Amino acid sequence: MIKSPRGTRDLLPPDTALWNFVEATVRDVFRAYNFHEIRTPIFESTELFARGVGEETDIVAKEMFTWEDRGRAESDRGQSLTLRPENTAGVVRAYIEHKLWDRGLNKLFYIGPQFRRERPQKGRYRQFYQIGAEVIGPAASGSESPARDAEILELLATLLDRVGITGWTLELNSVGCPADRARFNEALRAALEPVVAKMCADCQRRAVTNPLRVFDCKVPEDQSVIETLPRISQFLDEGCRTHFEQVKEILTAVGVPFTLNGRLVRGLDYYTRTAFEFTHGALGAQNAILGGGRYDGLSEALGGPAAPGIGFAIGEDRLVLSLAATADSVLRTPDVYIAPLGPGMNREAARLARELRRSNKDLVVELGDESFRLKKSFEAADKLKSRYILIVGENEVKADAFALKHLASGEQVSVPRAELAARIARH
Ligand code: HAM
Repeated sequence: MIKSPRGTRDLLPPDTALWNFVEATVRDVFRAYNFHEIRTPIFESTELFARGVGEETDIVAKEMFTWEDRGRAESDRGQSLTLRPENTAGVVRAYIEHKLWDRGLNKLFYIGPQFRRERPQKGRYRQFYQIGAEVIGPAASGSESPARDAEILELLATLLDRVGITGWTLELNSVGCPADRARFNEALRAALEPVVAKMCADCQRRAVTNPLRVFDCKVPEDQSVIETLPRISQFLDEGCRTHFEQVKEILTAVGVPFTLNGRLVRGLDYYTRTAFEFTHGALGAQNAILGGGRYDGLSEALGGPAAPGIGFAIGEDRLVLSLAATADSVLRTPDVYIAPLGPGMNREAARLARELRRSNKDLVVELGDESFRLKKSFEAADKLKSRYILIVGENEVKADAFALKHLASGEQVSVPRAELAARIARH
């Protein structure tokens, strides 16, 4: 048997109803906050992620699905391509490529698959889905303002409420600007020097190349050492400290609760200033339901103009996992099951189904088969949890009126063809 590749999965009904419910709800929320959709390719040139996300991050160093293009054209051949492990770099590439600064402040969202070669476990897949948003534009458009950070975080609190997720925690930190981080890295190197020999091989490498990444370490034995390291908050300059204070003040004013977490540095190199994660207890080890932050230097790192930005990505798989709702609560079952009875009745049933579906686009119409006897049609309608069954037999066709039975109450009436759609519609 050919199975789906490790770390990927099929989403089947009825679960897909829950996914669609989540996506429809978040689209409504994005619309209310004046965000517009962007769709970028699911593969990009490898260099985009190396430069954008950072060579030293776990994502780029270990987890990308990368291949060399075998294209016939000289210009394609040998180009290194990568399935996108995240979407921020792609959005900023599109911002630069299409000169989106002409539009002022861009408020963009996306929903789609991302790919990371991670060890699969509950809540962690190699193909997973993100619902994300990015706010990006020239500084003159207000993209740098702490008001943008606070609005994003308030949007997320509202979005999780609307979807029906309770019990989340917003963990917040500021990772400062590059100058702060240079001083912090120096302090980290000094603090790591006497202890790093006792740490894991990854940390020993990070201590030399990019000490900040030591905070990504998940090895239990290393945690007591990491606890004693300095925190970025001690190194923020005046501008970054004020910016962070203002974000916190607005959040408090609008009533969005948060917890400060000085260890939170995020696993991607592009972050500056505000960084955050929302965690959820029901998820176990992979408890980050979403993450994000500011990336004021990313556009320049990719060869574009200065374009401060902030965004987030929700792990849609994890969001669905932590939903208390079941698929049944959002699943639409048929309004009517059309039961053709006897030879030649498939034609009549098909005509009726077409009329009903075209007269009311909200009706869910299921069509049976003339080879079924009455009993089997009833069983099929019951199994599908249809509200009504509509009998299409020779007598009904002659009279142009059809037996319509409400399955829960057992009430049956004869309804003229022209009145069927109105009768079946939910009132
Ligand atoms: P990230 O923290 O790498 O950030 O991913 C965001 C979310 O995607 C995580 O919190 C998690 O819920 C989900 N996720 C990540 N990897 C997996 C996986 N292997 N399986 C299932 N879910 C996963 C970013 O991707 C940034 N681009 C977010 C961002 C946007 N920052 C600014 N703008």
